[in-house]
Amino acid sequence: MAILPILVAPHPVLKQKAKPVEKVDARVAQLMDDMLETMYDAQGIGLAAPQIGVLERVIVVDVHEKGEERRPMKLANPEIVWASDELVPCEEGCLSVPDQYADVTRPKAVRVRYIDQQNEIRELEADGMLAVCIQHEIDHLNGVLFVDHLSMLKRNMLLRKLQKQQRSKASA
Ligand code: NI
Repeated sequence: MAILPILVAPHPVLKQKAKPVEKVDARVAQLMDDMLETMYDAQGIGLAAPQIGVLERVIVVDVHEKGEERRPMKLANPEIVWASDELVPCEEGCLSVPDQYADVTRPKAVRVRYIDQQNEIRELEADGMLAVCIQHEIDHLNGVLFVDHLSMLKRNMLLRKLQKQQRSKASA
C-alpha cells in the first residue's frame, strides 16, 4: 500500500473526465487500496482517482462515525441509476480544495451501480452523508468540483482564499 500525493485545485487534471475501468483486476484493486490509505492519511471521507492524478473511474469512501469501526467502500465505474426528487443542502469540503467549505444542494438519496473490488457488479442505496459523499466523488470523475455547484461569485471568493492559503503555505 502507498500514500499518494493529492492534487490541489486549480490543477488541470481535476477538470478532466475519467475513463471507465475495463475490469477490476489486481492493478485496479491495488489502486483502490492505495486510494483508501491516502484518504485515511489525509483524514478525508472520500477520494476519487483523478485527485491522485489517475484518470480512471474509481472512488473510495468511508463515512463511519468517530469511535465506530471503519466502513471502507471501493467503487469502480460508479453510476447513479436513481436519485430522489427531494434535495437537501449539506456543507461540503474536498481534499483538493483544502480548508474551504460551502453548502451544496443535491438529491437526498441515490441508488448507485458499480463494480466492487472482486469485479462483481453491485448496487447500493445511500442517503445522508453517504449519498452526499458518493455524489461528490462521482462529480470528480466528470471533472466537477463541489465549488462548481456554487454561484460564480462564491466560487471565485473561495478559490481566491485557497490560492492565498496555498501561497502562504509555500512560503512558510
Ligand atoms: Ni472532493
